[in-house]
Order: sequence, then structure tokens, then C-alpha cells
Amino acid sequence: MSELFSVVGKVAVVTGASSGLGRRFAATLAGRGAKVVVLARRADRLKELESAYPDAILPVVGDVTDEDDVAAAVEQAYRWGGSLDILVNNAGTTHVEAAEDEDGAAFARVLEVNVTGLFRCCRLVGRSMLERGSGSIVNISSINALVASGAIPEAGYVASKGAVSSLTRELAAQWSARGVRVNALAPGYFPSEMTASLFEPEHARYFRRLPMKRGGHPHELDGPLLFLASDASSYMTGHTLVVDGGWTIV
Ligand SMILES: NC(=O)c1ccc[n+]([C@@H]2O[C@H](COP(=O)([O-])OP(=O)(O)OC[C@H]3O[C@@H](n4cnc5c(N)ncnc54)[C@H](OP(=O)(O)O)[C@@H]3O)[C@@H](O)[C@H]2O)c1
Repeated sequence: MSELFSVVGKVAVVTGASSGLGRRFAATLAGRGAKVVVLARRADRLKELESAYPDAILPVVGDVTDEDDVAAAVEQAYRWGGSLDILVNNAGTTHVEAAEDEDGAAFARVLEVNVTGLFRCCRLVGRSMLERGSGSIVNISSINALVASGAIPEAGYVASKGAVSSLTRELAAQWSARGVRVNALAPGYFPSEMTASLFEPEHARYFRRLPMKRGGHPHELDGPLLFLASDASSYMTGHTLVVDGGWTIV
């Protein structure tokens, strides 16, 4: 069974790996034998991760909204690892404001990172995967691809995550016959810098409506990530896998 989910010897790129879910995704892959290129803007955070997994992590400082940064990261990853097998498109941001007050620039900035940046990484890493005829891309979507945000007003974010799941289907349709699978992972609420305020005791009521009555624990995305990244999901493509404690079923 462990062979089925194996990522040993695979080369992965994880964007937004300087904190939160991305850091955990990179550590999960590195801890199971993958070589992982981690891309984000905060160099100090990436260095910390490298010191935890010295031979398995290559930090590359860059911004997913910058074409040259992403191209340079892909080039470095290719030189370091010799191939690109897994891409985890995790870098993301939000802007919290009532829709009627949110200006176009704030809305566009969220889409620039979460959608255009993600597409840029898919395109540049995807080309190399298509040349080799194999690869697995995991795009980090959200339950907000399926349901409105509700308590937190964040129109740009919700729009962007809908786009991530749609784009995942489109790229899967274009690339799967050539060996590159594209899936999305849609977490409910997990602790991170982005969600820190939700996990304060005064917001406990927020979780009462969901069947499991609690937010996710960081390790509860390890299995779903390994499943989508590895050959365990070899007949899945274009799918958005929801991991949300039942948030979207009620
Ligand atoms: N936490 C949750 O409950 C939850 C639920 C559903 C989906 N998600 C998704 O999970 C992903 C990670 O979020 P998180 O909750 O872990 O939040 P987080 O701790 O704020 O992490 C966001 C990461 O994205 C990176 N990033 C932001 N803008 C970037 C850019 N322009 N270029 C490169 N990297 C950039 C940040 O690194 P730098 O600042 O160092 O660049 C950081 O590492 C996001 O896509 C988010 O939408 C999270």
C-alpha cells in the first residue's frame, strides 16, 4: 500500500511553501522521499524549511505573479532534480471586505495571484511534464469553489477558487491524454496565517454548523495530497477533492 502512494525519487515544486498549508505540503513530500523545490517570496521562511530537510528541499525565492521568477524557478528545479514530476500550486492570497466596498484593484490582485499565477506555474511546469509524457499537478482550490464564503466577505477569493477548479478541468481535458493529470484539492478550514483569526476562541461558533464541529488538523491534508500527487490516483483527472469535515454537505 505504501508503494501505491509513494513519491520516493519524484521531483516536486510547491508554491507558497513559506507558511501554512504549503509548508506542510512541502514537508509531507520531502519527508516521504521526494526532492522538493519550494517557491515563495519570504526567503527566511524557505531557509528554515530547508534546514529541516537539508537534502530534500531547494528554496527558490520568487513571486508567482512574475513570469521571470517562475521561469527561473522551473529552470533551477529542472537542473537540480533532472525532471519535474509533481506541481502543487498552493500560493494564494485573499482580501476581506464587503463586495460593495471592494475596489477593482483589490479584486484583481487576488485573481492575479490565485488564478493567473497558478496558470503561469501550470503552463511553465506543464510544458516540461508534457515533453516527458508524465506528471501530476495538484491545484489548491477551496470549498469556496463550491459554496459562498458566508461569514467572511471575500468576493475576489471566492471567484478565484471557482476559477481554480474550472481551470483544473480544462487543463486536465487538454493534457491528460499526454500523460499529465491535473486535479484540485479543496480544503475546508485549516489553521494558517490566512485563517488565524477564525481559530480564535471567540469564533468557535463558526465551526458549530459543520458536521464534524471543528476545523481541520494540519495532518489531515497529508493523505489527500499524497493520493493526488502519486500513482494512487492514476485514473483521476480534472477532479476537485473536497476535504472539509462535511462543510459543503449541509
Ligand atoms: N487555510 C485554509 O483553511 C485554506 C482553505 C482552503 C484553501 N486554502 C488555500 O491554501 C493555500 C495556502 O493558504 P494558507 O491558508 O496556508 O495561507 P498562508 O499561510 O497565508 O500561505 C499563503 C502562502 O502563499 C504564498 N504567496 C502569497 N502570494 C504569493 C506570491 N505572489 N508569490 C508566491 N507565493 C505567494 C505565501 O508566501 P510569501 O508571502 O512568502 O510569498 C504563503 O506561503 C491558498 O491557496 C489558500 O487559498 C487554505
